[in-house]
Parts: sequence; structure tokens; C-alpha cells
Amino acid sequence: MAISLAAASASSSSFLRPSPQARFPKCPPLCSKSQSRPWPFRIRATSAVAVEPDQAIQTDIFACPICYEPLIRKGPPGLNLSAIYRSGFKCKRCKKSYSSKDRYLDLTVTAGLRDYTEIQPTRTELFRSPLVSFLYERGWRQNFRQSGFPGPDEEFKMAQDYFESAKGGLVVDVSCGSGLFSRKFAKSGTYSGVIALDFSENMLRQCYDFIKKDDKLSTTNIALVRADVSRLPFSSGSVDAVHAGAALHCWPSPSNAVAEITRILKGGGIFVGSTFLRYSSLTPWFVRPFRERTPQGYGYLTEEEIKDLCTSCGLTNYSSRIQQAFIMFTAQKPQK
Ligand SMILES: C[S@@+](CC[C@H](N)C(=O)[O-])C[C@H]1O[C@@H](n2cnc3c(N)ncnc32)[C@H](O)[C@@H]1O
Repeated sequence: MAISLAAASASSSSFLRPSPQARFPKCPPLCSKSQSRPWPFRIRATSAVAVEPDQAIQTDIFACPICYEPLIRKGPPGLNLSAIYRSGFKCKRCKKSYSSKDRYLDLTVTAGLRDYTEIQPTRTELFRSPLVSFLYERGWRQNFRQSGFPGPDEEFKMAQDYFESAKGGLVVDVSCGSGLFSRKFAKSGTYSGVIALDFSENMLRQCYDFIKKDDKLSTTNIALVRADVSRLPFSSGSVDAVHAGAALHCWPSPSNAVAEITRILKGGGIFVGSTFLRYSSLTPWFVRPFRERTPQGYGYLTEEEIKDLCTSCGLTNYSSRIQQAFIMFTAQKPQK
């Protein structure tokens, strides 16, 4: 059965909303008379698949990381942890299945592979360690203040200001780590859904533990997804806002990542990122040659390089705030 990608992506955000008309007036109604097919529409099950009332089969916000076809989901609808955990996902085109592992949904290309394991550069692998994941919000992240990071509360406020036009929409917190900001976005009640996405299995497990300890969060619209920022498992033009805190310097290919972020954003969607600059205005000239990028170390960029990356991917309205080596920047995908 043919499901148009455009229809799926247009409908996906409304699919996530528990009571859209009440909370987020800009969302389309769940069942629009103007649509030829009511949403969430059901696909006739094959004889092999028994469909129970709450086990609808439907296209989902998530797309196959191999071919970007919207995934078919079987299970309870919704973006909360329990619904995602109980759902199975399948790509109609690749026939590849995806499911939750240890409470996060694994949407990497390598999900389910038996023999092959992906080894990424050190700056990515470091955060897959259980120890680093455990320590991350227990001292590691606090050290960023020495480089000019204002601290999570202030950084969250700055990001929310940039996300003003994305209120009521879907936010993807790319490279969320243990979910420091994903949890704040979800708790704010400002967005219809939050996807906490990281490549590190242990960061996601840690994020799950933090969510479970917080009564206000365990039932909200937050999903944990394992994915590579260079291969984001969402349809093109399906996401209202992307946040990437303290992450760009950890990515294997910042250009592929920014291109992917641009692809998944809707027209008018906002990207907000923060990172360490290679040089701050206070860095003496004679120190700068020692800060050049190496394949092994972190990929610290200059502000000019960050702006160049965003612009070359077609993002506009670039602006930034800098404090010592800390930069928070934002850019917008143009409306069509
Ligand atoms: C310094 S932490 C940032 C965590 C959090 N966003 C914050 O603001 O504190 C960087 C994160 O980038 C993630 N990361 C590194 N390479 C990645 C990749 N290829 N795809 C997705 N995430 C990646 C790491 O797993 C790590 O959790």
C-alpha cells in the first residue's frame, strides 16, 4: 500500500500530540475532513499479523536510517517511553525491523547486526563508555563553566528564546548525552514532543534512569532514540526544532551532521547548537597553532567555520552568542 512521504511527514507531528486542539492550536486536528484518509490511518494487516485495537499499524515520525522511508509502526501510539518500548518498527522498502533495546529505540543503520560493530572516532567512542556516561552530569559537564559555558539553566533559557517560533512543535535534542536538556525541554511543556537522541547506548541508559526518577517526566512525550547524527532517522522536513548542546566538536563529520539537521527541519524550523570554539578572542596568537584540528582530538571549529557550515547547507538568519570559548549559535531553514 502506497503511503506518501509528504502525507506521513505532514501528519506525523499531529500523531504525537495527546490533546492537540487543547494545548497546541496550530496543530492540525487528528482527523481532518479535508484529508482523504483519517489520521492516524490504519493499514490493513496481512493475514500473518493480528491487529488488536491498541495495536494499530501506522506510519510514524521515525524514518528508516537507510532509505528515509517513514517507518511502519505496530503497537500503541504515542511518543512516551512505554508506548515506544512496546512498539515494533519496520521499513516497508528495506524490510528492516527496528525495536527498543534497553529502553531506547535503536535506529542506527547497524541496529540488529550480529557480526559488524561500528567504531567511530575517539571523540564519539569516549561517550559510549559507562563511566563517562555516569560521570557526565556528576561533575564532567560542570567543568565546561571554566571555558565560558553559562551553565545548564542559562543555556536552556537561551535555547528556548531561539526556539520561540517552534513552540508546540517537535524538538529533537541531537547528541543529548544523558538528557540534560531533553529533560528540560520535556518538562517545560512548551513542545508537543521531545526526542532525546544520541549515539551512545550508555548515555541513553543514563538518561532513562534520570527520567524514571522524575515523576513528572515518566509519562510525558519524550522518546529515547539511538542514532548517528550523520544519518538521522526522520523524514525530510518533519521536525520543528533541533538542539545540539556541546556536541558539534564531538561529531565525526560536522558537515554531514549539519546537512542532516537541515534535511529533517521543516521550512522555518530552527537549529540551535553550542560548542567550544577553537580560539576565543582571549587566545594569544602564539597559542593558536597548537589548537589546530587533528583527526584524533575534538573537532573544535572557529565561529567563521560554524557560520560557513550552516550557510553552505542553506540555513539562514545565523546569529550567535559567545563567551570565552563557549558559543551558542542558531540558524533557520528558509520557508519554501
Ligand atoms: C559533550 S556531550 C553533550 C551532551 C549534552 N548535549 C550537553 O549539552 O551536555 C556530546 C555527545 O555527543 C554524542 N555524539 C558523539 N558522536 C555522535 C554521533 N556520531 N551521533 C550522535 N551523537 C554523537 C556523544 O555520545 C555525547 O553524548
